[in-house]
Amino acid sequence: MDKGCWRQTVALVVVVLVSTNAEASFSRHMNDFIKAVKQVEAGHPASEPVAVLRRLRRAAGLNDAFIQHFLGNANSSGPEIGAHLSGYIKKAMHHRMTEDTKEEGVVLTPDGTTVALTPLLLGIEAGLLSKTAGRVRGLYQLTLAKDLSSSPLTQRLGPDGCWDSLTSPQVFTLLDSPSVLTTAQVNGGMDGVVLGMEVSDKSKRPLKLSSLLTEYYCHQLGSKGLDAAPRLISRRRRENFRGLVVPPLLTRKVVKSVELQRRLKGRSKMDVKEKKQLTAEVREGMKEFVHMYMDCPPMIPRCMWGAEPYRGTPTNLSLPLSFMYIHHTYTPSQPCLTFEQCSADMRSMQRFHQEDRGWDDIGYSFVAGSDGYIYQGRGWLWRGAHTLGHNSIGYGVSFIGDYVTRLPSQHSMGLVRDQLASCAVGGGRLVANFTLQGHRQVVNTSCPGDALYNEIRGWEHYGEVKKGR
Ligand SMILES: *[C@@H]1O[C@H](CO)[C@@H](O)[C@H](O)[C@H]1NC(C)=O
Ligand SMILES: *[C@@H]1O[C@H](CO)[C@@H](O)[C@H](O)[C@H]1NC(C)=O
Ligand SMILES: *[C@@H]1O[C@H](CO)[C@@H](O)[C@H](O)[C@H]1NC(C)=O
Ligand SMILES: *[C@@H]1O[C@H](CO)[C@@H](O)[C@H](O)[C@H]1NC(C)=O
Repeated sequence: MDKGCWRQTVALVVVVLVSTNAEASFSRHMNDFIKAVKQVEAGHPASEPVAVLRRLRRAAGLNDAFIQHFLGNANSSGPEIGAHLSGYIKKAMHHRMTEDTKEEGVVLTPDGTTVALTPLLLGIEAGLLSKTAGRVRGLYQLTLAKDLSSSPLTQRLGPDGCWDSLTSPQVFTLLDSPSVLTTAQVNGGMDGVVLGMEVSDKSKRPLKLSSLLTEYYCHQLGSKGLDAAPRLISRRRRENFRGLVVPPLLTRKVVKSVELQRRLKGRSKMDVKEKKQLTAEVREGMKEFVHMYMDCPPMIPRCMWGAEPYRGTPTNLSLPLSFMYIHHTYTPSQPCLTFEQCSADMRSMQRFHQEDRGWDDIGYSFVAGSDGYIYQGRGWLWRGAHTLGHNSIGYGVSFIGDYVTRLPSQHSMGLVRDQLASCAVGGGRLVANFTLQGHRQVVNTSCPGDALYNEIRGWEHYGEVKKGR
């Protein structure tokens, strides 16, 4: 079941009833953050969304010269939010990394991804302030470019992280030491760009901030999955972002952010040579951003789906590999449509592979849900147990469901066929002319099901088995 956007009316009644003390128990779940926003809205029902955002920004102390340059002074936004609520908001929004690699200022969303709130909310505020639809002043600087510009030489980006609890999340621990931009910051920044652009269109009906966040983060997929889902939902974060942004634009905005920061600090303008050099460095750094967050599909790491540890010592693959083998899980037979269900499916397959089959780990390298995400199995580096006799030369990618007579959603097939494949090639994990095959082509099995097998025969990279190899 999607914890998602709950029974809103019930929640609202509860919010009103316990309003003064509830914030003490608010977690770092987007649902709780939305509840807090509702309380802010309920205090001043006539407030425009932009006034609500300003009051949040004031509570969070997001009022430096860079932000004011685009959004104005947050102090000029009517009465302050009460101390309890503002304490929660400040903690939830204030982004920082602690020494023990905890990331603060981020919330878990119902789709299983984590977002930094500051770039998200600054992007929306910029969009609401824009005079012309689609031309939002400061949109990229406030969401992504300022952070990217803080150290344009660093190539490494990320990492993602994991929560202490999925039902009442409080602590988010990064999987590695932080870089200039974590995955949660990128997620929040992308959402800020996408939603900021959307709300800049004044011809659309204006929404309360809490409603906008609810529609975007809490949409529950129907049985057709993403094939029949609305355009503007968090599960489509990367595709929407790709539709709006080309890398040279982002490069220009990063350079502009650096220029503005220098100006605000009273430093001299960059000369032509300095600017050229900076642009070249940013352009180089942007390649990694594009690879990780625009080419690659969004991936749910092992710790997020609740994986048991690998038993024993994994065998490293020797990269790049030459094959990708397509599977279906058969059991579970139904496509999974929520983070909770897909995660439960991953855990049950891992249990079966470890307990009943006696393997070290879930066999597959990657698994495609129908919720818009790829779930990490053994991943890029460890040899899998998916395609007997071929595990050292290829990745095994499985679709959750039984595809003997029907197909996975077009969306989840696209994630594997287009994005996972180009991500693997771009990251040096698969050779550029790799061969894609169905499990049944090399092992005596009906996997990946007749329907799915017939489908993949039309995919780029599909290859017959060469005799005498
Ligand atoms: C905003 O108000 C706070 C106190 O309410 C004050 O400390 C801060 O300096 C003000 N900031 C600006 C930019 O006016
Ligand atoms: C496998 O790779 C990891 C890093 O990716 C490395 O730390 C480890 O030593 C490698 N193991 C072997 C047996 O080469
Ligand atoms: C793939 O490309 C490499 C080098 O570019 C070449 O040696 C190899 O034969 C190609 N493999 C196939 C299956 O075409
Ligand atoms: C493939 O498996 C089926 C049933 O599992 C069996 O009847 C058949 O003989 C097998 N074929 C080969 C070539 O091993």
